[in-house]
Amino acid sequence: MFDNGLKYGLVTRVLHWAMAALLIYQLGGVVAGAALGETPLTEAWGSSHKPVGFTLFVLAVIRALWGLVNLTRRPKLHEGLIGKLAVLGHLALYALVLAVPAIALIRQYGSGRPFEPFGIPLMAGGHEKIEWMTKLGGDWHGELGWVLLVAIVGHLIMALVHHFVWKDGTLKRMVG
Ligand code: HEM
Ligand code: HEM
Repeated sequence: MFDNGLKYGLVTRVLHWAMAALLIYQLGGVVAGAALGETPLTEAWGSSHKPVGFTLFVLAVIRALWGLVNLTRRPKLHEGLIGKLAVLGHLALYALVLAVPAIALIRQYGSGRPFEPFGIPLMAGGHEKIEWMTKLGGDWHGELGWVLLVAIVGHLIMALVHHFVWKDGTLKRMVG
């Protein structure tokens, strides 16, 4: 269940791959919308953006807490500069995957409109619009979402370099 210094445990792996699948779905929908415009496919895809984004936020919080619990048990990254860059890269992924949906949820609250992902009455709405909240989301949510996409592509490329060029088993310890 826990990480053990050599491999990531089951909980870490399930969280990693569930979030990877949901993020590919989420960002795939945004990319399809930008590329194809409004079509029945992109509208249906886009209609799940808020509930899936909310799910990602909940998973990201759980994952960050789980990461802290396992901090001393995480498998070692590279020595030296490459290892430090890997730590920075992973921290950037955590920061983005928390900030992108959090900022959207703040905007959603600030809009004064109700928000009920999967029918859960999370925000009742009905109050005045809160300007700084809607501005924060307008200025940063989409932009940081694109930065997250770029960071994920970089992460994927590095995972493939580990597996096919350096052949050091890094992918295996996350696959299990
Ligand atoms: C990790 C989760 C999320 C990711 C990766 C994500 C990503 C994105 C991206 C990249 C865009 C930009 C689209 C563009 O430039 O045209 C966008 C737009 C949008 N997102 Fe999200 N999103 C997430 C969660 C959420 C949540 C939780 C909500 C609301 C509760 C939300 C509401 C919106 C809205 C209303 C837009 C259109 C307005 C805008 O561009 O800011 N998103 N999202
Ligand atoms: C697209 C397919 C993906 C592949 C092939 C992949 C592969 C991997 C591998 C092999 C590791 C272990 C690295 C090591 O031990 O040094 C890892 C760790 C990690 N990955 Fe991914 N990953 C993918 C998607 C994602 C996505 C979408 C995120 C976005 C948040 C992400 C975030 C992380 C983080 C933060 C770690 C560090 C361990 C942790 O805290 O969970 N990965 N990934």
